[in-house]
Amino acid sequence: MKITEKEDNESGERYLITSALPYANGHIHLGHCAGAYLPADIYARFLRLNGKPTLFICGSDEHGVAITIAAEKEKVTPKEIIDKYHEANRRAFERFAMSFDIYSRTSHPIHFETAREFFADFLRKGYLIEKEEEQFYDPVADMFLPDRYVEGICPNCGYGQARGDQCDNCGAYYNQLDLIAPKSLISGKTPTVRKTTHWYFRFDLFQEAMEKYLESNSNDWKENVVQQTRAWLRQGLKERPITRDLSWGIPIDGIENLPSDKTRGKVMYVWFEAVLGYISATKHLMSILAEKGLGKNFSWEDWWKNPNTRYYAFIGKDNIVFHTLLFPSMLIAKNEGFIIPKNVPANEFLNLEGQKFSKSRNWTIDLQDFLQSFPEDYHIDAIRYALATNLPETKDSDFTWKEFKTRNNSELAAILGNFVNRTILFIQKNFDGKVPYLSEEFENLPSQWNRLISDLKLNKEIVPENYKPLESNEIDLAKGLVQSFINATLNITAFKIRDGVFEIMNSVRFANKYFNDEEPWKTVNSNPAICSKTLFVCSQLLYSFALFFAPIIPYTSRKLFRSVGKEEHCGDQNFGEPSENFWTKIFEFHLESGTPVQSFGILFPNIEEKVIAMQIQKLGKSPDEIKEEKRKNLISYQQFSTIQLRTAKILEAEKVKNSKKLVRLLIDLGTERRQIVAGIAEHYTPEELIGLTIVIVANLEPTKLMGIESEGMLLAASTDDGTKLTLVTTLSEIPPGSIVK
Ligand code: 2FM
Ligand code: ZN
Repeated sequence: MKITEKEDNESGERYLITSALPYANGHIHLGHCAGAYLPADIYARFLRLNGKPTLFICGSDEHGVAITIAAEKEKVTPKEIIDKYHEANRRAFERFAMSFDIYSRTSHPIHFETAREFFADFLRKGYLIEKEEEQFYDPVADMFLPDRYVEGICPNCGYGQARGDQCDNCGAYYNQLDLIAPKSLISGKTPTVRKTTHWYFRFDLFQEAMEKYLESNSNDWKENVVQQTRAWLRQGLKERPITRDLSWGIPIDGIENLPSDKTRGKVMYVWFEAVLGYISATKHLMSILAEKGLGKNFSWEDWWKNPNTRYYAFIGKDNIVFHTLLFPSMLIAKNEGFIIPKNVPANEFLNLEGQKFSKSRNWTIDLQDFLQSFPEDYHIDAIRYALATNLPETKDSDFTWKEFKTRNNSELAAILGNFVNRTILFIQKNFDGKVPYLSEEFENLPSQWNRLISDLKLNKEIVPENYKPLESNEIDLAKGLVQSFINATLNITAFKIRDGVFEIMNSVRFANKYFNDEEPWKTVNSNPAICSKTLFVCSQLLYSFALFFAPIIPYTSRKLFRSVGKEEHCGDQNFGEPSENFWTKIFEFHLESGTPVQSFGILFPNIEEKVIAMQIQKLGKSPDEIKEEKRKNLISYQQFSTIQLRTAKILEAEKVKNSKKLVRLLIDLGTERRQIVAGIAEHYTPEELIGLTIVIVANLEPTKLMGIESEGMLLAASTDDGTKLTLVTTLSEIPPGSIVK
């Protein structure tokens, strides 16, 4: 990725981004998101903003025992499971602004066709061999037992709950029959051993090709990816069975050249076909685009069989060898010029409050859960940002609610929100809500600024006099911004997204410093020409930050663009079309003087401690336990009836001296008049209050506020952060003193 010049797309360079296809057997949680989805989305948006033709592919993995086990647990059919979770996950991803060009599914006919075609082709070419083998059989359930349905003692480390083919404790892979003291997870019985036929992929034939592939990429790949891949190669690639005795999956029945008496009841091993899901999803997308008369520029083969395509496969660490060894071997075996991943940026795991995510222990935050408590666009951006600053890129990382709050309150709000807010308010108050006009002495400031930015990017030596009328504050600002820009770009390009995000936020620190150093609140009176210049520069940065933050917090970016009357894209899905390179122009000036600047309210409302405390309390508790706790907090009707609520008419209102918040009210309660003191002065002027009918708690003990007696409490609704407040009033006229119940 070049930083300065525009790269034309004549070379045909294009980018294919895939995220691991999640099993449609449950909801996506924040850990998944931080693993393979958010980083890929940030990367895809970043590429599109750079004008690169980019396809971002994902979808549901709908086969394998992951699905059948979920179906058994929920006592429904596998089909019901995949339909339910495919749709739920598709929607949740969409709400989380994952810019997939398609979210397909492996139950789609195009996928069946693709997978069967690969299978048939491998069979023809001699890459598949048929073997008769012995396998565990559950005589009670009358079925062969796939690996996940058997449990026993690990032959390698002695762990007691090892799965059929892999030990979760020591990571060893072994043959099912080597498991010690095996037990069927379906009937609980000791399985018998029966003969069955399976087809093996000649993985061993690709040892050399894969060694070369790894070594030619190992400098660019992450350490964890290289290590795991190398370890597998050291052990030597072995023939691997790619069929299973299962009723759920892609049947091999009827594939040409297979003996029909042995194929019944057999499906493809889920990993064999799931990785092909990326290709079939691309075909699926192209067929949709063709139907709509869109996407004429490329066919699926232009992406998958084109040496100009750079393919990056984003995954979690448990998927590494399938993407660095199995899938590339299959693509090479097909021998049709398929490209293979240029990089496989696998993340480690995200933990939650110090522990592994676990659905069964309710130690999890599903996207759906999150949305229930945090439904707004700015909440989604806040969680995207909080996760992005804490991605498990080199080692496992830990998500805590406290950190979420800090990232929102102390970074998004206090740094970005603050800059945006102070700039817009200042412009509205002093410049009629428009990007200021520059006085004559600053007329060529925009062209000088753009020249400075370009020279800084080229790392030229900067002699400040050559950039007049820019002063040292602007030069420092430009230096900071360009440094952040270069660092962010290099980091994101190298998949160090976390560091990239840090740099992006850092750029706003320079902007805040500029605002402070310029002191426009003073120059507005002492030197209006300078003040206009300062705010001219700051308003340009509203647009710049909209662009710079777009890959991370697209909802907020859209708002920022709108604040200056623009509707730019935020690196959103565009079906692989090339576009203008916005990224390299981020810190150039884009806005004309006189452009209206609008406010869209507080960008990131404060998240309060009590909101976070509630989330922490929920962890580890089942929905029933949470319900029970809520029940415990209920009060009886008897308790409620002791509180007397009555209507009251406000007769007098005045602000309490020396208090920002308090108002003294004289109210009519029908049978008497009373004085109450209320903390509503920031939301209502005394004049607005007089004549209103409100609701008060009439039997509250009197108390003193700032030395003034208050005989009751009025009711008002306010947001958690206290920024909005409205009095509870009556819908129609009613005499003061009426009972409210
Ligand atoms: O780990 C998983 O959720 C798998 N369903 C990932 C599959 S990635 C690719 F093969 F599709
Ligand atoms: Zn083990």
